Amino acid sequence: MRLDVVDTPAMEAFGRELGAALRAGDIVVLTGPLGAGKTTLTRGIGAGLGVRGPVQSPTFVLARTHPNLVGGAPLVHVDAYRLGSAALLDDLDLDFERSVVVVEWGAGLVEAVTDSWLEVVIERPTGARGAQFAGPADAVDAADASGDADLDADEPRIVTVTGIGPRWADTPYAAPA
Ligand SMILES: Nc1ncnc2c1ncn2[C@@H]1O[C@H](COP(=O)(O)OP(=O)(O)OP(=O)(O)O)[C@@H](O)[C@H]1O
Ligand SMILES: [Mg+2]
Repeated sequence: MRLDVVDTPAMEAFGRELGAALRAGDIVVLTGPLGAGKTTLTRGIGAGLGVRGPVQSPTFVLARTHPNLVGGAPLVHVDAYRLGSAALLDDLDLDFERSVVVVEWGAGLVEAVTDSWLEVVIERPTGARGAQFAGPADAVDAADASGDADLDADEPRIVTVTGIGPRWADTPYAAPA
């Protein structure tokens, strides 16, 4: 499944939709460059699950658990950016069975702990931001002068969702056979 996500609220809304479809035992792997919107998507997933926020970048902890406020599964939000190996994801001793686990930068790590996961890839379409920085130097200066509004400005993302393994067979997210 591939979709255009036009801005930040749309990313959160897509996360809410996804979150509402997730249950205990589910693992979501988020892939995309710095600032792609992985944490923004996770915030929406948290809202869809009904967990306590705030969902933010887990900079100082490798994994943060958000308890569920409506009786469903807690959200475990992992930032694997600094995790070196699959062994380490296992070392976190997460309660995969009872939680929904979302792993930023988790590609290549989850295979060691599960046979099923939802892979979400977030891309910036070429042309938007790329074109801006390929522009004349004074255009770049103008962007700099406007502070970091430039970095956070709403821009479209392309999101691809692929369900891997038996959990996702016969769901709208299933990988094409
Ligand atoms: N279409 C969009 N979807 C999601 N975020 C967007 C979009 N357009 C602009 N943004 C902005 O991009 C930023 C994404 O930041 P976020 O922390 O979610 O990224 P991240 O992928 O988690 O980064 P990191 O790799 O540092 O963890 C936010 O400031 C958000 O408002
Ligand atoms: Mg993040």
